[in-house]
Formats: sequence, structure tokens, C-alpha cells
Amino acid sequence: MEIKPETGLNGLLEAFESEHWTMAREAVEQTGNILRQLELDPATHARIGRGMIKLVDHHKWEVRKALAHAALYLRHETFDPILAKLSKDTHDLVRNAARRTLSRRSELSKSDRLKEQHGDLMLKWLQDLEERHGLPARNATRRVAEKLQAQFVTELNHELIKVISPLDGSLESLNAALQGGKRINRETLLRYARRAKDRVKFLLAILDSLYMLTKERDLEYQTESLLSLMEEAVQLVRDRKPENAGLHAEIRIAPQITVESNRHMLLQALTNIIQNSMEAYAGTQRPPEILVEATAHNGSRVRMTIMDNGCGMSEEAVGDAFMLFATSKPHGTGFGLAIAQKIIESDHGGAVYLESTRGQGTKVVITLPKEQEVREW
Ligand SMILES: Nc1ncnc2c1ncn2[C@@H]1O[C@H](COP(=O)(O)OP(=O)(O)O)[C@@H](O)[C@H]1O
Ligand SMILES: [Mg+2]
Repeated sequence: MEIKPETGLNGLLEAFESEHWTMAREAVEQTGNILRQLELDPATHARIGRGMIKLVDHHKWEVRKALAHAALYLRHETFDPILAKLSKDTHDLVRNAARRTLSRRSELSKSDRLKEQHGDLMLKWLQDLEERHGLPARNATRRVAEKLQAQFVTELNHELIKVISPLDGSLESLNAALQGGKRINRETLLRYARRAKDRVKFLLAILDSLYMLTKERDLEYQTESLLSLMEEAVQLVRDRKPENAGLHAEIRIAPQITVESNRHMLLQALTNIIQNSMEAYAGTQRPPEILVEATAHNGSRVRMTIMDNGCGMSEEAVGDAFMLFATSKPHGTGFGLAIAQKIIESDHGGAVYLESTRGQGTKVVITLPKEQEVREW
């Protein structure tokens, strides 16, 4: 027996009570899809909830398991009793499904809450702008934000496809090899699997970086010694990968120079920059070394430079370096400098830029205020 595609919600709810259990199961699955895909009004959620709760004691565990899945997006008071019952079911698979639904549900409500908070905050900022600078400023700001968002999504989409297509290719090859020829060469299979795994690792690296870049944060700042920050950053880079262990660093910073900063974030920015210096020596015959200098600059700011004698950059590469996804490395994500810039400029009110000569080396210049001003946004 099958449920026809044109069956509406009423038909599905009727099929919940069908004497054929496979039909009941399918109706439950389809209702779960509807809950997930459509914005339904509270009355409809209530009808579905009342239909679902009658199935918690269905004689077939397959139906109860489908129910445990399908209830994930149910917004009605029946959700709790349904899941309470199913998570004590006599059948393992039903209990597992119910537990998964409960844990996913708590993730979902967390992200819903964040979305709401974010929306409220945006609205407040826009109102603020309107009060201070008038309606045209508010509208223009919103348009710029929308443009940036669209541009970002397009770029991200492009970059993700670039990783996903070869991943799909590797899995295709793996599949074909498993289904095809009589003799399967283990080495070949392993190679496909390894390639797929590498792509997944790369995707995760992009997601991690996105998180770093967009994380909402209330930063706390403390007065930190710049010398100790820099020493720790160099050590972190050395410890990060075996090939970094030989990095030599000369640090010329007077111990009394301090900056008010969020240590954890600033370390993230500095390690990204030093990691690039380290990688700039790949393909050169020179041993990796950096020179770091800092001076107190016009009273309220500190100026710091991180120099390497690595491969250097073309003028064009210098222009693109801070853009997301701009990378010249086979396994680079192009996020390192974008994250560093966000931390130094947006989170610390400083500035960062590059001076570089191709074939000779690169100097990263950072200025930071010694004290943080109170920022409204
Ligand atoms: N010290 C440096 N020397 C040479 N090139 C650099 C240096 N720092 C950054 N770059 C260039 O800028 C690009 C972007 O750097 P980054 O944002 O950290 O991304 P990724 O390191 O993943 O490529 C690098 O791919 C490299 O071409
Ligand atoms: Mg980098």
C-alpha cells in the first residue's frame, strides 16, 4: 500500500490510524517532512500533535521509531509527553531515535534563541542609526549589509562547491571500484577513501574558520605584556606542526610595553600571521626565521612589525591577501589574514597591513591602541 503524493495533511492524519502498519509509518514520515519543510500555524501543529500522541503505543516498533523522528519539528505541548514515552520504549531503536530527537531539539532551540537575539540587536542598531542620522542612513546601511551578505554567501557557495565536487568524485570512484571489477585493489580503495577524508577535513577547517570569523563575542580586555604575548604566539606556532618546530624568532620588544587586549583572540591573530611567515619559506632554501619589533608610537598606540625573508608577494597578492578565500597555497583556506584583521581592527581598534617584495620577504605592520575605548557596537 502506498500513500499518493497528492494526499493532503488530512489524509495523512487519517492514515495514522490505518490498520496497515506500513501505511501508518509512511504517513508519520511524510508528516515529519511537512513539519520540517513548511511554516505551519499553531492550530495545525496542535492537530498533528494530537494525532501523533495516539501512536506512542502503536503495536509496531517501526511506527513508534518513525514517530520519534517525525516529532522533531513539532511545536505543540504534546511534544514532551510523546518523547518522554518513546525514550522509555521497550525497543532499543525507538529509544535511540527518541534520544537523538531530544538532543537535536535542544540544539535547535538554542539556535532559534540566538537568531532571535540577533534579530533584536539588528533592529536596535538600525533604530539607533535612524535617530542619529535619519531614515536614509538607516536604509543605506541595511542595503550595504544585505549586499555584503549576498556577496559572502555567493563566495562561500563557490568555495564549498570547489571542495564538494572532488569529494563527490572520490566517493563516486570508490563506489564504482566496489561495484565493478572482480579484483578489488585495496591500495586504490584506500587512496580514494583517504582523498575523501582529506576533503572532509578541509571542509571542517573552513567551517571552523567561519565560526571564528562570525562568532558573536563580548570580549574582556586585560593589560598584557606585548613581549610575553609575542613569545607565546611564536611557541604556539612551533608546537602546532612538526615542520614548524625549527622556526627561529628574534623578538625585540621592551618588556614594559603593554597593550590592553583579549589575550586569547590576539594570540589567534598573531599565530595566523606567524604561521604565514613560516609557510613563506616553503620552496626557498632559507631557514625559517622572523624578526619581531615593537615601539611605543605617538603616546597612545604601539606599532609592531613581523618580518620574514620568505617568498614575498606580488603587488596584486598584497592587495588580495585580506580577502576571504584568497590563498596561494594548495591546502590554504584564505581565512588566516581575514580573521587576524577582524581581531586586530574590529575587536581591538588597531590596524594591520602588509609590505612585501616578491622573492625577498614580507613585513606585517600592526598598530594597536594601548588602551581600549568603550565601543557601542
Ligand atoms: N608572510 C607572508 N609571505 C608571503 N605570502 C604571504 C604571507 N602572508 C600571507 N601571504 C599570502 O596571503 C595569502 C592569504 O593568507 P591567509 O589569509 O593566511 O590564508 P592561507 O594562509 O590559508 O593561504 C597566502 O596564501 C599567501 O599567498
Ligand atoms: Mg594563513
